[in-house]
Amino acid sequence: MHWGAAMKRVVLPLAELDRRSFCRAFAVGAAGAMALSACAEDGDAVQTGPVGSEPPDQVGPDAGDPNSPDAGHVTTPDAAPTPIDAAPSGPTCGTGAVDVGAPTSFASGTATLISASSVFIVRDAGGLYAVSSRCTHENATNGVSSGRFRCPRHGALFNFDGSIISGPVSQPLKHYALCTMSNGHVGVDKSQVVSTSTRLDV
Ligand code: FES
Repeated sequence: MHWGAAMKRVVLPLAELDRRSFCRAFAVGAAGAMALSACAEDGDAVQTGPVGSEPPDQVGPDAGDPNSPDAGHVTTPDAAPTPIDAAPSGPTCGTGAVDVGAPTSFASGTATLISASSVFIVRDAGGLYAVSSRCTHENATNGVSSGRFRCPRHGALFNFDGSIISGPVSQPLKHYALCTMSNGHVGVDKSQVVSTSTRLDV
């Protein structure tokens, strides 16, 4: 049917049609080639574009097929949020703890001197621990020598776990509590002396 004739057929009885009837009549008259926003009803959204096209936010069952009409209508799900740091483990540090660095900065079998806190951070098979860097004879700062702590003043030797090997000393080295800071780093709390078997498993 000619377009002008179709419009006449729709427009003339318009006053007598309710809204739904008008839309139905218009859709038939226009052969479904277009739709009007005025015909939108609750839960019945009007789509624009060629007849038979899907809304761009819908994904057809063949969306991954480049030959499918659905090709190009793939929606991308929101990316999962990336954590800034790995989830902390071990006891959470209190306000008195001092940040000594990321857990990954302490390699297995090594002792790292934290001068500001007068401790060595040691990693063994069980995890991390903090042991005093001060010799129990006259408070000199120990160094690391051949896998042991050695006092430069009188030559006392300690194992990495703080136990005495030799020298003018009678007390082993103290261990202090380690904890996890809010940023995932390791914290040392020198207000807490702990057993020599205590480890932070990070
Ligand atoms: S101060 Fe360390 S052995 Fe004397």
